Amino acid sequence: MNERIRRLAPYPMVELARRKRAVAARGITVFDFGTGDPREPTDARIREALVASVPEVSQYPSVQGEAELREAFAAWYSRRFGVALSPETEVLPARGSKEAMFHLPLALVDPSESRSIVVHPEPGYPVMEIGAFYSGAETWRYPLTADNRYVMDPAHVPAEVLDRARIVWINYPHNPTGQDLPEELWHAWVEARTRHGFVLCSDECYTELWFGDKPRSLLEFGREGCLVFHSLSKRSGMTGYRSAIVAGDAELITHYKACRAAFGQAMPIWEQRASAVAWSDESHVEARREVFREKRAVMKAGLARLGIELFESSSTFYLWCRVPGDSDAMVYCERLLDHGIVASPGGFFGAGNDAWFRLALVPTVDECRAALDRWPASV
Ligand SMILES: Cc1ncc(COP(=O)(O)O)c(C=O)c1O
Repeated sequence: MNERIRRLAPYPMVELARRKRAVAARGITVFDFGTGDPREPTDARIREALVASVPEVSQYPSVQGEAELREAFAAWYSRRFGVALSPETEVLPARGSKEAMFHLPLALVDPSESRSIVVHPEPGYPVMEIGAFYSGAETWRYPLTADNRYVMDPAHVPAEVLDRARIVWINYPHNPTGQDLPEELWHAWVEARTRHGFVLCSDECYTELWFGDKPRSLLEFGREGCLVFHSLSKRSGMTGYRSAIVAGDAELITHYKACRAAFGQAMPIWEQRASAVAWSDESHVEARREVFREKRAVMKAGLARLGIELFESSSTFYLWCRVPGDSDAMVYCERLLDHGIVASPGGFFGAGNDAWFRLALVPTVDECRAALDRWPASV
């Protein structure tokens, strides 16, 4: 057994699923605001493309993927962010951004070198830390709090850490808070990257779930030493397909592509074709945004009536809520669970978040209303 891995906490969403099963077994109807895995149907055109692409003879797909997929992504990226990417050298398919983020440190970090720190936000998506951990990297957690508005600023990372950083992860719109990064800090991160020489990685899987200003992308601000991670999971309701794209600095993409052949990470051809259809269409994304806009409105109004304070943000399908009263998030979420409401305690996203819990807007609008009716009073 690998001793380092023994020290890792169980993956939070596995723990959440266990608790949910226990409540359902007691005959209670469950409203699951836990994992960010909505149930709205995937657009029919995407599903049809997948089915139509299953070949009679099935052979290994290439790591590089089909030109059709890379071109569809580059065209979308250019329409959305106004940045031209070479589908040949700057775009690489991945089997969901989770695996791409997990594997990246294995391709970039040499734990015997001094430059082997991975910087990541806390609270944040746990895979940034887990991937660093498996690669043998040191980690440095950027403490995000309501006081710093959950905004990462390179000026608040010690210069010795940035000098030794191999990878710095940023994630805006941010899971779990929905916060966006102001324009001046995108510039500041690109400048810090140039000065200190780390690889700047931007996890952008929520850029299409916006309900206020449209989120930006790192490659609008710089390309050298920069990578972005985009996903169809949240944008197109395709969590089950496992489809994402890594894009940016051509030298890094070439290196990562070579490593990914060894990892055995290549996207099946039917999924590539379905993904090309998804990147080429915006109407289903707009329709999804409208669904989440309505759920947000219902939940925000209902939580306000219950006296539950929210962190104000305008992206993602998450609501980051302050635990009412003196309770801590673990205790409060257990109490919600007794009422059939599954929520993620802030501690699932890193230490120091015990005053917060996250709601993923997964239940339907009617289920959101029913859950609010059942919500325990705050005091
Ligand atoms: C911030 C963040 N990044 C990446 C992912 C992984 O997405 P996927 O592997 O489905 O592309 C998630 C999933 O919840 C996430 O919340």
